[in-house]
Amino acid sequence: MDEVTFKGLTFEPYIRREEIAKQVQRMAQEIKSDCGDENPLFLCVLNGAFMFAADLFRACDIHDAEITFIRFKSYEGMSSTGSVKQIMGLNENIEGRTVIIVEDIVDTGVTAQELRNLLATRNPKEVKMATLLFKPASLTVGPRPEFVGFEIPSKFIIGYGLDIDELARNLSDIYVLKEDKKDDEQA
Ligand code: IMP
Ligand code: MG
Repeated sequence: MDEVTFKGLTFEPYIRREEIAKQVQRMAQEIKSDCGDENPLFLCVLNGAFMFAADLFRACDIHDAEITFIRFKSYEGMSSTGSVKQIMGLNENIEGRTVIIVEDIVDTGVTAQELRNLLATRNPKEVKMATLLFKPASLTVGPRPEFVGFEIPSKFIIGYGLDIDELARNLSDIYVLKEDKKDDEQA
């Protein structure tokens, strides 16, 4: 796998598609045994989680599962703005239901907490979160996500739905921003 360049920045291969697929299967089994008989509603957080949600939803193979979408935006460029904008709302009645929030990545936890607060006002039975990636060192608010694909350091990554200013979502593998190395280290 080669490096890729976006916005003048170089990214190197980080998590291959085969490894992503393996962890998606593992998470699907965990979700199925935890809430497979509860007619869960998967709530995909757009835009970043669309690819992961499609793969996870299929892999779970729960007969009475449903999926819906909500859209939030908190990132500008490569850092969190700290405030979350809801761009597309939730229309479903979630009263008494098990909701599984599907996120691409939990970074500061602000988006996740905002979402949990919003859902809590609508009396669900239970809310759980499935995130492909989790940066534990960046978490400032809220609990640890219930289902986690990969725990990673607080580095900026792209691919498999994750973007840099809306680019790179279509990469099948995940890439990490390459650290600047001093000239002597490169030799
Ligand atoms: P949080 O609210 O700080 O937890 O950030 C959540 C959102 O920020 C995620 O759903 C992503 O859309 C975006 N995000 C966080 N870290 C990254 C990253 O490393 N690359 C791309 N997007 C990210
Ligand atoms: Mg997201």
